[in-house]
Amino acid sequence: MELNRRTVIAGAAAAGIAATTLGTGTAEAASGGRKPVKEPFGKLADGTKIYRWSLENGGTRLKVLNWGGVVQTLELPDRRGHYANVALGFDNIDDYVAKTPYFGALIGRYGNRIAKGQFTLDGKSYQLSVNDGVNSLHGGTQGFDKHVWDVEPFVKGSDVGLVLHYTSVDGEMGYPGTLKAKVTYTLTKRGEWIIDYQATTDKATVVNLTSHVYWNLAGEGSGTIEDHELTIPAGRYTPTDSGLIPTGELATVRGTPFDFRETKTIGRDIRAGHVQQVQAKGFDHNWVLDKGITAKPEHVATLRDPRSGRTLKIASDQPGLQFYSGNFLDGTLTGTGGRTYRQGDALCLETQHFPDSPNHSNFPSTVLRPGQVYRTRTVHTFDA
Ligand code: BGC
Repeated sequence: MELNRRTVIAGAAAAGIAATTLGTGTAEAASGGRKPVKEPFGKLADGTKIYRWSLENGGTRLKVLNWGGVVQTLELPDRRGHYANVALGFDNIDDYVAKTPYFGALIGRYGNRIAKGQFTLDGKSYQLSVNDGVNSLHGGTQGFDKHVWDVEPFVKGSDVGLVLHYTSVDGEMGYPGTLKAKVTYTLTKRGEWIIDYQATTDKATVVNLTSHVYWNLAGEGSGTIEDHELTIPAGRYTPTDSGLIPTGELATVRGTPFDFRETKTIGRDIRAGHVQQVQAKGFDHNWVLDKGITAKPEHVATLRDPRSGRTLKIASDQPGLQFYSGNFLDGTLTGTGGRTYRQGDALCLETQHFPDSPNHSNFPSTVLRPGQVYRTRTVHTFDA
């Protein structure tokens, strides 16, 4: 499949175009943002020190761990200027190591599921680490979210940010090739949060990197997201089997609860009894974005909390979006604010290639080859 090459090239173009846009100098830019601040955030069992970085720009505040590139907190003002942390997380490293359902983490080498953890590439079969029933989820038992990343802060014109590096060795979690991943978190002076993903490999492999922030725009721990309004410009989605592996069909959303083309609340159709929802305990599907793979990030979702007015717009160059309505939050985890998280207390919007792409020749390819550069960008714009 040559589609992957197009993704790779398209992604590169996107980064180029956007980099120029970000570089535009203004008086404000000249004053520059403040340098991210680093502080200790506990230790791993083997004594490895974990750090937390605090960044702020344009009214958006982020706290990021070098563990899994985790966005621990993301604070945004409401329409009256009152701040709330809108991302689920923990207040200590032990909980992240022992029981996180990927709160705020960077996901790799392959975001989402690969059936039975198996795929064939160039005639060779690979067995990946299996951690979700018989399937491999989010890279296996020790995905990119369960490693220490190298973190470098930067201030560039009016932008502030972090560059995160992780090298996944050949054979790690069963994946072929040493993959060098670089992820850049940028906060712009308009308060946008941009994620730039980049990766190279020394052997043909598959890659699908994403970010796993659990959003609640009313504030983490404040209750359900069922009254949040959501828009997804996608006329199709990928139905799954009971293990949440795509059947391969690209089904229409027309006349189903999966139709988010016109803005509606998440709660409106979440109990509609569609077999796909019953199977997933809610929404946990990949939407096939109408725009397809694009040269630069285009609109893929708008999420709004009507009470606070907080609005999140996401743009991406990727072909898919996983909307997960927090179905497996079961009241056993207590977050940063000391409140317990229950089913539907947050949602994830993961910009990505389709799940299980390595086993579906009709899906855009996720193959990365030596000499190619994987690049993709996600832009989060906030408003109130
Ligand atoms: C998946 C869910 C999974 C969750 C883990 C999401 O990306 O779509 O099925 O349970 O991650 O927290």
